[in-house]
Amino acid sequence: MSPVKIAPSILASDFTHLADEVRAAEEGGADWIHVDVMDGHFVPNITFGPPVVRAVRRCTSLPLDVHLMIEHPERYLEAFAEAGAGILTVHEEACVHLHRTLQWIRELGVKAGVALNPATPLESVREVLPMVDLLLVMSVNPGFGGQTYIEATTDRLRRARVLVDELAPEADLEVDGGVEASNAGIIVGAGASVLVAGSAVYHHPEGAAAGIRALRSAC
Ligand code: DX5
Ligand code: ZN
Repeated sequence: MSPVKIAPSILASDFTHLADEVRAAEEGGADWIHVDVMDGHFVPNITFGPPVVRAVRRCTSLPLDVHLMIEHPERYLEAFAEAGAGILTVHEEACVHLHRTLQWIRELGVKAGVALNPATPLESVREVLPMVDLLLVMSVNPGFGGQTYIEATTDRLRRARVLVDELAPEADLEVDGGVEASNAGIIVGAGASVLVAGSAVYHHPEGAAAGIRALRSAC
């Protein structure tokens, strides 16, 4: 099995030193930088838009894993692609024409991801899995960092792994929310290939590099 990727979420970083925080993750061995885009409609919180993605793009050579927690994501795909996103993940719940939206992401030359909230059946993405590079299984209800991992996600990941192996064997299976050193081993054992971690990286008492190291040694 290929090594697990770690994607620190800058939502938990110190925004007054964003460039340093991104570099700390890169130097600490991160594989991707996870950028949480929230619009105050699809989720209750508001975060970043394309200008911040563009700024982060200038701080690192790592792929930017842009998680769009927004309504009508199709309106903004081009802007995020131009800003330097390497992966654009849309929520199944936010897309009426999910197939078209994923196709469009790929046409923009960006990897396409689809995300599922904890209450959404895995089966709802079966038809589009062959066209995605990433399936994101949320392990919290999206909107905020620092929430507790929903235990039922582990079984969901096992079932998602079967679906991904069947329909998109090259795709990554990402988990996002409440991931920390104490549960990373179980999550990877259930089949995840990418761990998003905000608090576990940026709130680690010894710094981001130590947070990444702890996650890596746990899986
Ligand atoms: C939640 C976001 C997550 C969040 C993860 O809506 O999608 O990426 O930043 O933060 P932690 O790891 O602190 O749960
Ligand atoms: Zn996220």
